[in-house]
Amino acid sequence: MLKHPDIDEIFITHEQIVTKCEELGAIISSEYRNRIPVLIGLLKGCVPFMAELIKHITSHVEIDFMDVSSYLGGTQTTGKVHVLKDLSIDIRGKDVLIVDDIIDTGLTLQEVCVLLKDRGAKSIEIITLIDKPEGRKVTTVVPRYVGYYIPKKFVVGFGLDYNELYRNLPYIGILKESVYK
Ligand code: IMP
Ligand code: MG
Repeated sequence: MLKHPDIDEIFITHEQIVTKCEELGAIISSEYRNRIPVLIGLLKGCVPFMAELIKHITSHVEIDFMDVSSYLGGTQTTGKVHVLKDLSIDIRGKDVLIVDDIIDTGLTLQEVCVLLKDRGAKSIEIITLIDKPEGRKVTTVVPRYVGYYIPKKFVVGFGLDYNELYRNLPYIGILKESVYK
């Protein structure tokens, strides 16, 4: 695969991501076989991952999207996450599976979980393509399904951005220092 000139190294190839989505899709199909989960994608980073993942889920799913502001400037659980785009589905009594691109501190997701619980979700689980466990600042955010665990590195591609760019790369890569220095 052709490497973008701003990318230093391809960290996870497109083929690896697709294979991972096949595996995760099979597990979700099995674990939710008697339920119809609502997959809630957190915009905008979730888009490529969600699109690939749902192709490999063989049981029924509903999908919806939400955009929330990332950083609230505090570390407390307030449940007052700033919702930029809200769901169109009523999730009361539903099994929710939040789809995220990457979890670092976990602060955003903690807030989202509080919000969705308040709205009456029956169950809430998290799936993320990438987890950076070293960055975690909360203990409550434990994704049930993880594509890859990575160390504290800044990565872009397959939904992940740097200043809104590189989301369209079909792989996950590491930016050249010259791009942000
Ligand atoms: P947190 O878990 O609340 O710290 O927020 C995670 C969010 O920070 C992700 O949804 C991304 O928008 C952003 N983020 C964290 N690490 C990276 C990275 O390595 N590349 C691109 N975005 C990142
Ligand atoms: Mg995000």
